[in-house]
Amino acid sequence: MHFKLTEEHLLIQQAARDFAQNELKPGVIERDEHQKFPAEQVKMMGEMGFLGMMVDPKYNGAGLDAVSYVLAMEELSKVDASASVVMSVNNSLVCFGIEKYGSEEQKEKYLKPLAVGEKIGAFCLSEPEAGSDATSQRTTAVDMGDHYLLNGTKNWITNGNSASIYLVIAQCAPEKRHKGINAFIVEREWDGFAVGPKENKLGIRGSDTHSLMFTDVKVPKENRIGEDGFGFSFAMKTLEGGRIGIAAQALGIASGAYELALQYAKERKTFGKPIADHQAIQFKLADMATEIEAARLLCLKAAWLKDQGQPYVQASSMAKLFASQVAMKTTVEAVQIHGGYGYVKEYHVERLMRDAKITQIYEGTSEIQKMVISRQVLK
Ligand code: CAA
Repeated sequence: MHFKLTEEHLLIQQAARDFAQNELKPGVIERDEHQKFPAEQVKMMGEMGFLGMMVDPKYNGAGLDAVSYVLAMEELSKVDASASVVMSVNNSLVCFGIEKYGSEEQKEKYLKPLAVGEKIGAFCLSEPEAGSDATSQRTTAVDMGDHYLLNGTKNWITNGNSASIYLVIAQCAPEKRHKGINAFIVEREWDGFAVGPKENKLGIRGSDTHSLMFTDVKVPKENRIGEDGFGFSFAMKTLEGGRIGIAAQALGIASGAYELALQYAKERKTFGKPIADHQAIQFKLADMATEIEAARLLCLKAAWLKDQGQPYVQASSMAKLFASQVAMKTTVEAVQIHGGYGYVKEYHVERLMRDAKITQIYEGTSEIQKMVISRQVLK
């Protein structure tokens, strides 16, 4: 065992750090305030290879490993979690899902533009009454011979309006329960597809989260992913990797807040000395540094297992569960260290605190991660 990153990993980490500081940081407060999607920045992310990091170069991807992906996600999330969630969904849900389980035609047609950010993808599983309980899909896809007829509503869809390629999970045979579920690739331009209003969110306000409506959308048979009835397994398998991305996002939010708090603690003086010289602050910084390091190790371990082709369902849920708790706790403490300054927007930590909360909710709540982990340890 060795804990050293390769030269290539360090270069990717540095490139992501520079991009985040130079391109994401300017304007991040305004984008949050006005709920503005980081369109220009996402375009640049595509050009730099951040939107198809693990995709094979033959489909336009960067061909990197999951460890590189975690390193880049951490750096972008330190600065702008609204931009990094676009990266996470596009890479580990949409690109991964199509590359791993899609047909050659689907990869040629859909993966290639997704891998370079020419098109953005969205993953549509959640419904008004099927969030955690994902088998209870109400969206239906009726087999009409050469196509399916898709009807239903999806909720809280990340990239809802900026995407043009949607992976949609739908029930085709309710009597078969989860074995009747399929996953489909749906194009934005198709008749019967509509984007609902944008959600006005607590955090990651720059990302565009929408409900989506499907009314008699004709989906060609060749757009189903995998065998008939594979959709629920597809969603679960894809989310295993997605949870590594969100764990890395939570890690980045935590480490971004910690770095700001550390810097502030060295500069701000009270009672005649920098607040970093007070033990009350030192203890907070020590806890933050220790917990962030533990979260980072869990994220990298999950990514490493994925890279080795070993099972990673438990590791990814552990990483997400722990890193999201650390994100919440660290950002609250970072605001506390900043005192009154932390409560205003210019100091960034209040935004990171608001952004942290979603990492305990999306791609499976903390309670869902505990279900997944306990099922693994009890098996
Ligand atoms: N891989 C493959 N198959 C799996 C699996 C996995 N990781 N996990 C479960 N399955 C299979 C099971 O083997 C079972 O199949 P069989 O009957 O053939 O054995 C089937 O799926 C049903 O499994 P369970 O009985 O365990 O299902 P459950 O109803 O008890 O729920 C759950 C399992 C883990 C709670 C699951 O429903 C779940 O993960 N829910 C949360 C969903 C979620 O994460 N939603 C987030 C939305 S996406 C999002 O947020 C994206 C975004 O925009 C940022």
